[in-house]
Amino acid sequence: MLFSLAGAFLLGAVAQAAVIVPGAAWTDTDGNVIQAHGGGFLEVDSTWYWFGEDKSHNSGSFKAVSCYSSSDLMTWTREQDALSPVAGTNISTDNIVERPKVIYNEKNSEYVMWFHSDSSNYGAAQQGVATASTPCGPYDYRGSFQPLGAESRDMGLFVDGTAYVLYASDNNQNFKISRLDEDFYTVEEQVNVISASTLESPGVLKHDGTYYLIASHTSGWAPNPNKFFTASSISGTFSSEADIAPSSTRTYYSQNTYNLPLGSDALYAGDRWRPNLLGSSRYIWLPLSFASGRPELVWADVWSVDIGAGTYTIAEGTTYEAESATRSGNATLESNSAFSEGQAVGYLGNGGSVIFEDVEGTGAAQWVSIYYANGDSDYRTLTVSVNGGDAVTVDQPDSGGGHVVLSVPVQLTLNAGSNTLTFGSGQDSYAGDLDKIIVYTAS
Ligand SMILES: *[C@@H]1O[C@H](CO)[C@@H](O)[C@H](O)[C@H]1NC(C)=O
Ligand SMILES: *[C@@H]1O[C@H](CO)[C@@H](O)[C@H](O)[C@H]1NC(C)=O
Repeated sequence: MLFSLAGAFLLGAVAQAAVIVPGAAWTDTDGNVIQAHGGGFLEVDSTWYWFGEDKSHNSGSFKAVSCYSSSDLMTWTREQDALSPVAGTNISTDNIVERPKVIYNEKNSEYVMWFHSDSSNYGAAQQGVATASTPCGPYDYRGSFQPLGAESRDMGLFVDGTAYVLYASDNNQNFKISRLDEDFYTVEEQVNVISASTLESPGVLKHDGTYYLIASHTSGWAPNPNKFFTASSISGTFSSEADIAPSSTRTYYSQNTYNLPLGSDALYAGDRWRPNLLGSSRYIWLPLSFASGRPELVWADVWSVDIGAGTYTIAEGTTYEAESATRSGNATLESNSAFSEGQAVGYLGNGGSVIFEDVEGTGAAQWVSIYYANGDSDYRTLTVSVNGGDAVTVDQPDSGGGHVVLSVPVQLTLNAGSNTLTFGSGQDSYAGDLDKIIVYTAS
């Protein structure tokens, strides 16, 4: 009786997992992978809405702007689509609709969505506007235009009493900020330009009276070191750029999409784009800490947020170093200062494997983070088998040249007590160098 009660409790805990796991396939309350890329967020009466691009068709063309709701920013329910293609218009299924952002217009009691509206070859370079009377709409498309007659591609919105659109203009060379009209239907006045800055994926945070612009540079779908700039007003002169994360990690393989104030810190929401499998692009959400006085991403394998309290908690796990595990076949010890304790195991796959014994488990599904280095220019994969069971294959995005270490999560069900985890067996391609694993009790 006691045993089955405990089992039921653990199952319940799995179903209601309230954690953020950057890089995981994040599922909604129906168990489907969340499709809300290039997303934006809006709070209405303590409910959060996440708007984004549905890329489940693995194509750049417009399928839908999805809408998800949540009370805690971690558990998301898919609502009706907020914006759907309209045949014969600039938002048909032949067009591009990216980076949807929604703000509320008090004057008209109306929700207003702005997005990057484009032709399939990105030649139109417009902003699109749609409106609705409820957060998830469906929204009515009002039209697409070039703001003040200039090109606009990646964009975001910022509201500070007045609303502004932030956008990459002039063939992505000049970054502009323009003020919207009172209805939020159009652009009235350009208030700022950062010339020759080549910025994309912008967000603005106001923190302690300072305006922080956060943006990536332009490298297509591939990640680059995202930057921040500061100014004392939205129309003021922005500082020169500085990194928000160690530049070698290329923003932990992500691109900014939205920045949400979180108490004395902020939440960074980014996309890990996968251009040849767009629907499998992942979300990289991380704490953006201001503890040092400047915004810095804090890597967290597993974490949770309390949006009401304005706090976050990073889970602690148990670390197992690869060099302390048993190597088999061609698996080779690698030394580099980039690795934890200076060592990792290379030549996994193609007959090389590494076996971790005595890995402590809870008996339920739990997150395991795999720290690796993949110096290729494309993804590698790594197999994981628990106690000799069927192997699970984990994607390992290219982590940059040299020995840059990133981590990717996998959810495994370990036995309560001791387990044997085997990595790299049964695969005929090479996996990344394995630095260490961290086993979390959270599911
Ligand atoms: C559609 O885009 C074209 C330019 O590509 C523009 O001239 C036209 O006004 C747009 N139509 C609507 C309804 O937004
Ligand atoms: C070790 O690698 C060599 C190629 O470098 C390969 O021919 C051999 O089969 C590998 N050994 C094992 C046990 O996989």
